Amino acid sequence: MPADPGRAEQVVRRCRELALVSEEEGRLTRWFGGPAMARANELVGRWMAEAGMGVRVDAAGNLVGRVPGSDPRAGTLLLGSHLDTVRDAGAFDGPLGVLAAIECVALLRARELSLPFAVDVLGFADEEGLRFGTTYLGSRAVAGTLDPAILDLADEHGVTIGEVVAAFGAGPGAASRRGERLLGYCELHIEQGPVLEGQGASVGIVTAIAGATRAEARFAGHAGHAGTVPMASRRDAACALAEFVLAVEAAGRAEPGLVATVGRLAALPGAPNVIPGSALASLDVRHADDAARDAAVDALRDRAAAIGAARGIEVTWETRLAAPAVAMDPALTRELAAAVADSGIAEVRLASGAGHDAVALSELTGVAMLFVRCAGGISHHPAESVDAADVAVALDVLDGFLRRLA
Ligand code: GLV
Ligand code: MN
Ligand code: MN
Repeated sequence: MPADPGRAEQVVRRCRELALVSEEEGRLTRWFGGPAMARANELVGRWMAEAGMGVRVDAAGNLVGRVPGSDPRAGTLLLGSHLDTVRDAGAFDGPLGVLAAIECVALLRARELSLPFAVDVLGFADEEGLRFGTTYLGSRAVAGTLDPAILDLADEHGVTIGEVVAAFGAGPGAASRRGERLLGYCELHIEQGPVLEGQGASVGIVTAIAGATRAEARFAGHAGHAGTVPMASRRDAACALAEFVLAVEAAGRAEPGLVATVGRLAALPGAPNVIPGSALASLDVRHADDAARDAAVDALRDRAAAIGAARGIEVTWETRLAAPAVAMDPALTRELAAAVADSGIAEVRLASGAGHDAVALSELTGVAMLFVRCAGGISHHPAESVDAADVAVALDVLDGFLRRLA
């Protein structure tokens, strides 16, 4: 029996309501440890409580809603996605997975069904990495894989991850779920690409997630007067940065399957009549093949050094994330595929070019993912949109998945 369409509409409505909770006027931006994340946790926590869950925020700032199972020895199934966003985000990347999971719990309750195992719905506090240029801070804390060295990374105001995490009380180690009996993690997410739309499918089963590296290149030259320093004697950091940005684009175009992006760049001190003395570029490189990604990153690092050497610019390089490609768990994926078949829809399988919390959780437990078609494949953009009818199908599949595991 398909979930009633009103539930899917409520999920979509709540995603849009949550999208009003932002750090920035007029656009959606929620970063790790910011006031908007705290307000988002409050709002989503209220919806969790309404669905009958016990609610807490863990030591890494993740929101956790829990329904106990009828058999205390049966362990816990993890569901969810992230509640942080990119800058000027859409409403569905992340929140759809959290709100759909809450709705599934509410649906079980409405039917007075209890599962043998406990269900935890997680709203992860950092998947996008907007604030610190690294990512999966929330899910890595849960997986118990947060490297303590990372706590010293600072945001643009000099606040470190360690300082942010300290505000949650117990230190990130306390968020780890290592050693618990876990049945797996299942994440529902918008596809963020055009495959499902192209195939006329509401949902798809994820096979694997591409690996990703994030790095930051800093170019240190010499600032000076824009009117008096001769062109031949300048050490303009922004010019080195510009060469690097085009080298990144060329690398991505040259290698099939590779995507490479400079999404954030800055030239300092940032005045029209001052030669930029320093500049920085973020780098995001992805490929389904880890060796190909590593080779591309190494080549770009060498290229940045060569650009700097030719211009008398000192280049420093910091790798902020290196996440390998991740395969989905075969057993969980089989249950998901069976739930798709139970729903009477054709099975579509696809790989994910985008990263997800499932990457981090794969080091803790088996992971599976269900994608939902999104309009035009658009994401990381305010125009992101889903059809409630597709969400209804996804709820039906997730509900079927839970009942199969039971
Ligand atoms: C997360 O959305 C990512 O893939 O960057
Ligand atoms: Mn995203
Ligand atoms: Mn996402």
